Amino acid sequence: MRRIFLLLTLLPALLPAAPLTFDNKPLGDYDKPLILRTYMPDPGLDEEVFAHHGRGAKSPKYSPGQGKDVKGEYKTVSGIPAAIGVNHGPGLSYCFDTTECRLLYAWQGGFLDMYPYWGDPSRGNRLSHNYVPHLIGNLFHQTSGAHPLHLNGKSLSAAKIQPKFLGYTLVDGAPTFRFKAGAHTITTRILPSEDELTLQAEFTCEPKAKLSYKSNDGDITTTHDKPGDLVILLSGKNLKTYQGFPRNMKITEASVTAGQLLYETYGCMTCHSTDGAKSHAPTFAGLHGSKRKITGLDEPVTADDDYILESIKTPNAKTVDGFPPNYMPPYVLKDLEYQSLVLYIQSLAKGE
Ligand code: HEC
Repeated sequence: MRRIFLLLTLLPALLPAAPLTFDNKPLGDYDKPLILRTYMPDPGLDEEVFAHHGRGAKSPKYSPGQGKDVKGEYKTVSGIPAAIGVNHGPGLSYCFDTTECRLLYAWQGGFLDMYPYWGDPSRGNRLSHNYVPHLIGNLFHQTSGAHPLHLNGKSLSAAKIQPKFLGYTLVDGAPTFRFKAGAHTITTRILPSEDELTLQAEFTCEPKAKLSYKSNDGDITTTHDKPGDLVILLSGKNLKTYQGFPRNMKITEASVTAGQLLYETYGCMTCHSTDGAKSHAPTFAGLHGSKRKITGLDEPVTADDDYILESIKTPNAKTVDGFPPNYMPPYVLKDLEYQSLVLYIQSLAKGE
C-alpha cells in the first residue's frame, strides 16, 4: 500500500513531459491535477442527486450572420453542466458538481476523452460539436440519494441548508471547493489515497459545527472528526469500465505502424513510454520476451504474445510488481487491433 502512495507522490517528478495533442492530453498528477470545466458525462446517477438542476429545454437556433433566430432548434446537451472534472494521474479522477456541491463519481486509470470536440490530428479540426466527453478508466464510486454530507446531523439536501457554490481555490495544487450551507461556509478537498479504489475527502466548516458523512455508496472510514473538520476515506469497487469514444481506425492488416497509431490513439502513451523512461506504467522498451515479476507470484513469467494480449484485455489478471492494479483500463478492441499492438510492442524488444 505504501508503495502505491510513493508512486503517486514521486513519479510526477520523474515523468517526462507527456505530449499534448488533440486527443492525448497528459494526465495530471498528485501535486498538479488537471482540471477541466466541461459538460461531464452521466454514468447513470439517480434523479435525487440532481435535485437542484434545472431541466434543459430545446432552444431556437440563432444565426450570428443574420443576427436573429432562424428555423430549427438546438437540442439539450446530455451532459452534466457546471460540473468540474479533476485528474490526479491514473490513481484518481473525479467529478464534482457545483450545482449540488457534491462529489458525483470517481474513477481510476484514465480521465476524459474529448475526441469529437478536440478533433482528429489528421484533419486538424474538430469532428462535431459534441461537448460531452466520454470517461476512460474504471468507475469505482458513484453517489446516490440525498446529499451525504450532514451538518449538525442534517443532510445538506434539507431546504434551509441547501448548498450554494462560492468557487474553488487551489490549496497545495488541489482544488478546494467552497460553498455556503445556511450560515456556514463549507470547503471540500478530494485527494487520491494510498489504498486501492479509494479516495480521501476532507471537509471544513466555519463557524464550526458537527460534520458527518452518511452514504450507502461504498465503505466510509472516518479518520479525523472534530467540530468543523472531517476527513474520510471512501472506498468503492469496480463498477464499470470505460474506454472513451470508439475510433474507426480502418485497419485492414495487423502491422507495427497500425500498432503505433493505436498506442497513440488509445492513450497507452499517457502511461507507457517506448524509450525506457519511467512513467505511470512499465516502459514498452525491451518488454517483449523479458521476464516479468508479478505481484503474488513466486516465479517470474515471460512476456510473450499471450502475456501481452492478456495484459491489454484484462490488466488485473497479472499485476506487474511495483505497480498498482486498476490503473490500466481493460481494452476491448478488434482482433487486428490487438495483433497490431502486440506487433508494435514486439518491435520495441531489446536488440531490435
Ligand atoms: C492509465 C494508465 C495506463 C494506460 C492508459 C495503459 N496502461 Fe498498460 N499498464 C498500466 C500499468 C499501471 C501497468 C502495470 C500494472 C499491471 O500489470 O496492470 C500496465 C501494464 C501493461 C502491460 C504489461 C507490462 C509489463 O511490464 O509486463 C502491457 C503489455 C500494457 N500495459 C499494454 C497497454 C496498452 C497496449 C495500452 C493501450 C491500448 C495500455 N497499456 C494503456 C497503465 C496503463
